[in-house]
Amino acid sequence: MTTIAVAGASGYAGGEVLRLALAHPALTVGAVTASSNAGTRLGEHHPNLVPLGDRVLEETTPEILAGSDVVVLALPHGASAPIAEALPPEVVVVDCGADHRLTDPAAWAAFYGGEHAAPWPYGLPELPQADGSRQREILAGARRVAVPGCYPTAASLALAPGFAAGLLEPDDVVVVAASGTSGAGRKVAPHLLATEVAGSMTPYGVGGVHRHTPEIEQNLSVAAGTPVTVSFTPTLAPMPRGILATCTGRVVSDVDGEELRKVWAEAYADEPFVHVLPEGSWPRTADTLGANTVHLQVAYDPRTRRVVVAAAIDNLTKGTGGAALQCVNLALDLPETLGLPVVGVAP
Ligand SMILES: NC(=O)c1ccc[n+]([C@@H]2O[C@H](COP(=O)([O-])OP(=O)(O)OC[C@H]3O[C@@H](n4cnc5c(N)ncnc54)[C@H](OP(=O)(O)O)[C@@H]3O)[C@@H](O)[C@H]2O)c1
Repeated sequence: MTTIAVAGASGYAGGEVLRLALAHPALTVGAVTASSNAGTRLGEHHPNLVPLGDRVLEETTPEILAGSDVVVLALPHGASAPIAEALPPEVVVVDCGADHRLTDPAAWAAFYGGEHAAPWPYGLPELPQADGSRQREILAGARRVAVPGCYPTAASLALAPGFAAGLLEPDDVVVVAASGTSGAGRKVAPHLLATEVAGSMTPYGVGGVHRHTPEIEQNLSVAAGTPVTVSFTPTLAPMPRGILATCTGRVVSDVDGEELRKVWAEAYADEPFVHVLPEGSWPRTADTLGANTVHLQVAYDPRTRRVVVAAAIDNLTKGTGGAALQCVNLALDLPETLGLPVVGVAP
């Protein structure tokens, strides 16, 4: 068995990694660490993780984490890079935070600030690229992987096939996405209280300032082989988990709607986790909950010459914890799908 340590185990992303690791046939849970909650029982934070309930959270130090074969960092951005730097090179380190995702230091400075850490192989195996390859090719055997952000996973997989096929204009992309509140992490904040969120929706990070904007642009640029700009607006939805991203782009010239849909169906025909739904069915977040899946549907609006793609994911599963274990499978040369659920818990 391969041991997997989780830093940030008291948080939402760390808890999801542990939930999935418990069901993974090749992994056994090693150290579980936290910050302010170090010294407390894991079961206090994640009562659902019954088999690990009596584990005591340790301090998050490289020495404690280095005792495992795989380390998943589920920490606030800025916290993972210094820890990762101190881990031995042979340990597989998978970072759920943003520290190693962006290749452009200027984008890091503009959207995050502080020191730009070296980019790592980006953990979105299904991402189609302009040269016809997939991102998974650079993940096999990797020892460092940057797990994508949750919105970028949904938005990038929604539009990348159109860019890889040269069908979309690079400067006319609009993404509006709703996320459940777990996307904001476990921090206590008035706007995340049930009284504020239940029965209400609101946008945030409006006007091109959300931190996931440059990551979506980076991915779509890789797919297009040319720089792509994106207008991205996130919204907060009254649900604990799930993302529904509605993504539109303008096609370069008028196309047949059926042909357009085929581009997406063919791009993901062999992908075990990405499902282009039967024509007429639209994604529901509930169908992806707890599963490492993306549900997509594509339509063409000939009046505006726009393709409209709706994508649903569970932000904690395919949006982070499941993606992390999918990358661990690739890094360890295990079957990519090993131990990962594909059936959601709807309704
Ligand atoms: N939530 C999502 O849907 C999602 C999706 C994709 C990616 N991510 C990324 O995953 C990471 C974790 O997010 P989250 O939602 O799980 O956040 P969270 O619920 O707030 O959990 C944060 C975790 O990090 C620990 N921590 C906080 N500051 C630390 C520090 N300075 N050093 C070491 N540990 C520290 C916390 O420990 P204590 O409890 O002891 O304070 C907690 O275990 C973030 O980078 C986030 O962007 C999250």
